[in-house]
Amino acid sequence: MVRKVILDVDPGIDDAVAITMALFDPRLEVLALTAVSGNVAASQVNRNLQAVVEQLDPPRWPRLGAAAEPERRPDADARHIYGADGLGNANFPVAELHHLHASEKVLTDELRGDPGNVTVLALGPLTNVAATFRRDPALAGQVGHLVMMGGTISGPGNVTPAAEFNIYCDPLSARAVFRAPVTSTLVPLDVSSQVIFGYDLLDELPPENTRAGRFLRRILPHAFRTHRQVLGTEGIHLHDCVALVAVTNPELFQLERMAADVETAGELTLGATVFDRRPNRVWRPNLYVAVDVDVEGVKDSILRGIKQAGEATRD
Ligand code: BDR
Ligand code: CA
Repeated sequence: MVRKVILDVDPGIDDAVAITMALFDPRLEVLALTAVSGNVAASQVNRNLQAVVEQLDPPRWPRLGAAAEPERRPDADARHIYGADGLGNANFPVAELHHLHASEKVLTDELRGDPGNVTVLALGPLTNVAATFRRDPALAGQVGHLVMMGGTISGPGNVTPAAEFNIYCDPLSARAVFRAPVTSTLVPLDVSSQVIFGYDLLDELPPENTRAGRFLRRILPHAFRTHRQVLGTEGIHLHDCVALVAVTNPELFQLERMAADVETAGELTLGATVFDRRPNRVWRPNLYVAVDVDVEGVKDSILRGIKQAGEATRD
């Protein structure tokens, strides 16, 4: 059965690779791609979203939704990892910047259009998802499944010692989404960062005579450079691609039902995800959380997704 999905994204190199995989995955029908401010500012993610789709030019374009600048601007972005433009400083041209509907309007329309049957894959801060549920609280119950990349169970954060980037950028929205009556799965940093790609990934990318190959060859080398220079690692993480695999190949993840909330006020812990793991747990379980992963299985799945995108975009 083909699964209907909406990807809510802040491209971002790992978001862009996840979009590339999703658009050409025959198991998925990508209804919409909605942009959210995060890795780079709203105006740039909107540009990037359009650039990704123009570069890949899938046979059927999904609806695109535009990010708005958040009311409370976080003091973090990821330009030091993904480049000033968020896509490895490739500065892709966009033909003509379309006037897009707001992301929350696109999410609302699509969820209302097929209640209970649409999976939302949230790969950035949870601003749009929270805004959608705020606009119409009934929509939380109409999401088929919400899969989120974010948070950390017991490992360190990646933006502060305590917090993961997506949750840190908009902790109030994350808390609202965690507390909403929606069936959801969280893929935290503890799990997504177990999956590491070495430089040999660059040799496995589709060839230059494919649109996906050309696109990925322009953005991925930058991620390898910054992971080495900024993070001191010899390989890269593709957190958002791991979360996509949790949608397409859930059997590769071990899930646990957990009770989670988000720190929205802490001086040192703002944006930290907090789990009630006391033996006499008091909080009510509200999320499935990926606690372990078949690392090789996920890497294979990501490589297959990239290869498939190459085969579908030959000149
Ligand atoms: C998450 O933060 C962003 O920088 C990535 O795109 C990913 O969604 C990882 O913490
Ligand atoms: Ca992201």
